[in-house]
Amino acid sequence: MSVISRVKKTPPAPSLLAVCPGDDLSRGPAGELAEELDLPLLPLSTDPRRCTSARAVLLVYVNGIALQLTGKQAPGPVSVDFGESTMRHRRGAGHNELLGRAVGIGKKDGLRVFDATAGLGRDSFVLADLGAQVTLCERHPVVAAMLRSGLQLAQSSTDPWLAGAAARMTLVASDAMELPAEQLQDFDVIYLDPMFRQRDQRAAVKKEMALFQFLLQEEPDSNEDLLHWALASPVARVVVKRPPRAASLADVKPSHSIKGKAVRYDVHVLSGLN
Ligand SMILES: C[S@@+](CC[C@H](N)C(=O)[O-])C[C@H]1O[C@@H](n2cnc3c(N)ncnc32)[C@H](O)[C@@H]1O
Repeated sequence: MSVISRVKKTPPAPSLLAVCPGDDLSRGPAGELAEELDLPLLPLSTDPRRCTSARAVLLVYVNGIALQLTGKQAPGPVSVDFGESTMRHRRGAGHNELLGRAVGIGKKDGLRVFDATAGLGRDSFVLADLGAQVTLCERHPVVAAMLRSGLQLAQSSTDPWLAGAAARMTLVASDAMELPAEQLQDFDVIYLDPMFRQRDQRAAVKKEMALFQFLLQEEPDSNEDLLHWALASPVARVVVKRPPRAASLADVKPSHSIKGKAVRYDVHVLSGLN
């Protein structure tokens, strides 16, 4: 007897994230990354624009990893590539100079900066390029995996500029506030770039914002705690990146601010840089 079921089968809910090899040689590394991050593994031929089983895919290639939201309208992939043209372009721009001044580049040789909110590592790279020794701290495991991949790529580059700056960068995949206090004694500056909505509507910026908003939607907002933690740490200064007209973080008045058109750096001086 055949039974015709009239019950509509609902497709399984898509997972938030999945890993997918981007080329044939990356099947093994993709499997390892999926295991490390405890994420499902999709087959090689998966097209992110047609994929319905995950809301974003982490694509693994021989030369690095990229994250792409899925769906027809989704923006293109985002990866950590310190050698890309925008990073080279930023080098000559005033923005880098403001950031350098805020952390105190030039006041001490081999300035050691702890970037407690590393994200995609752009600001860290700028600081390393300006000569600082930078430790990048990132608590989101997927963002940390993207950073690790970007750093490996840069450190093995044959371009001396890129490899030189990357050699001054070290990654710590952790919540900054969970690190033992003695680990912070080695640093001169803590740099904070808490998440804020940018007015910059350039396509590349919108793509990154969409990605961050997606990834960090479940993350607790601990920005104020982060500032209080930083101010209680054994460093000479704490620098906070803010939108130009925003209130100071946690309403704590900085010692001074360095203002640019699109960004402001609030500098909390705790002691001299020596
Ligand atoms: C706006 S993004 C930073 C962007 C970064 N400055 C850049 O240039 O690419 C903020 C990042 O800080 C991370 N974050 C927030 N709180 C953190 C904490 N307590 N410890 C470590 N990372 C944290 C978030 O996961 C996110 O990736």
